[in-house]
Amino acid sequence: MHKRTLLRATACAALLAGGGGLAFAQGAPFKIGLILPMTGQQATTGRQVEAAARLWIAQNGDTVAGRKVELIVKDDTSLPDMTRRLAQELLVNDKVDVLAGMGITPSALAVAPLATQARTPLVVMAAATSSITQASPFIVRSSFTLPQVSVALADWAPKNGIKTVVSLVSDYGPGIDAEKYFKERFVLNGGKLPESLRVPLRNPDFAPFLQKVRDLKPDALFVFVPSGAGAAVMKQFAERGMDKAGIRLIATGDVTDDDQLGEMGDVALGVVTSHHYSAAHPSAANRKFVEAFQKANNGLRPNFMAVGGYDGMRLIYEAVKKTGGKGKGEALVNAMKGQMFESPRGPVLIDAQTRDVVQNVYLRKVEKKDGQLWNVEFDVIKDVKDPGKSK
Ligand code: DHB
Repeated sequence: MHKRTLLRATACAALLAGGGGLAFAQGAPFKIGLILPMTGQQATTGRQVEAAARLWIAQNGDTVAGRKVELIVKDDTSLPDMTRRLAQELLVNDKVDVLAGMGITPSALAVAPLATQARTPLVVMAAATSSITQASPFIVRSSFTLPQVSVALADWAPKNGIKTVVSLVSDYGPGIDAEKYFKERFVLNGGKLPESLRVPLRNPDFAPFLQKVRDLKPDALFVFVPSGAGAAVMKQFAERGMDKAGIRLIATGDVTDDDQLGEMGDVALGVVTSHHYSAAHPSAANRKFVEAFQKANNGLRPNFMAVGGYDGMRLIYEAVKKTGGKGKGEALVNAMKGQMFESPRGPVLIDAQTRDVVQNVYLRKVEKKDGQLWNVEFDVIKDVKDPGKSK
């Protein structure tokens, strides 16, 4: 009798343990359709975001609230028609629970109507035009916005001897946002901005624009180009002797991108930028993140895109947990609203009204430390909301 009870107890425990396992196995996988530019001009964005998403999974497990996480990565080569087609396939064929990624603004805007129609969350991890979150109530953003980071630099510049600026931006959403918000604030602060130059997004040739800037001879040139294009600007800035002509370079942190900064050389030294993330951000959480990212990726330094991907995965995991593994569509979006956590970039909040990210913006200067270039933070503006939303 005693033996039988024991047996039964053992069987029961085994069943319980097994039953748990069974429930895990039976729960449908939680599918994340991650669309990124893995090739072409924006390939570094794809590489960074994917590596960060995989790091998140390696550190936090591939099961959340009983659901096995399935990450489906698709390469849209940064062409918005392709992004739309891939999103459609992921929704219809793979029946993904969440769409994510979006390397550039046109991709995010191409997918927004599909997210609305399919009532599926779209976590924008990279693209940064202010208006994106207004394109669908199913969009939540983990990256940043250009207005958010540009205003800080327009406050810094006139206090630091810069009275005239020419702006040079990529001619599309984020560039136009950067130009507008930098100019408005700089002029409000008494600065003069006589010329706003725009270069094409695809295969830009900066030379004729830089020549024009040289002729105009402002105190500084303000630049926004997307991640991956900064090194070319920096190289041509030096080749045209702009620095020797006494023109300073100031920019959003997209230009002194941590993915490329190591290769830019000493021409980048002293460049002041404003942004939400630097790999040199001096917090324990960031040191841990950078170390783990580099270890998993042959020493590659994470950039701001990586942080958008990493934090985007956190938003998704927390939303799945909060909804007990059963949440879909709107319930997942609602569970992302108001999330607050410490990111490698610093404290982050997802504004429940706008579904956009509220975060610190840092002023940084490129400095050499232990033979390497870094964006060293020297000032911070805390808890910045996207100024684009109040208009
Ligand atoms: C966008 C892309 C970038 O690479 C970047 O650095 C900022 C914004 C965009 O297309 O939204």
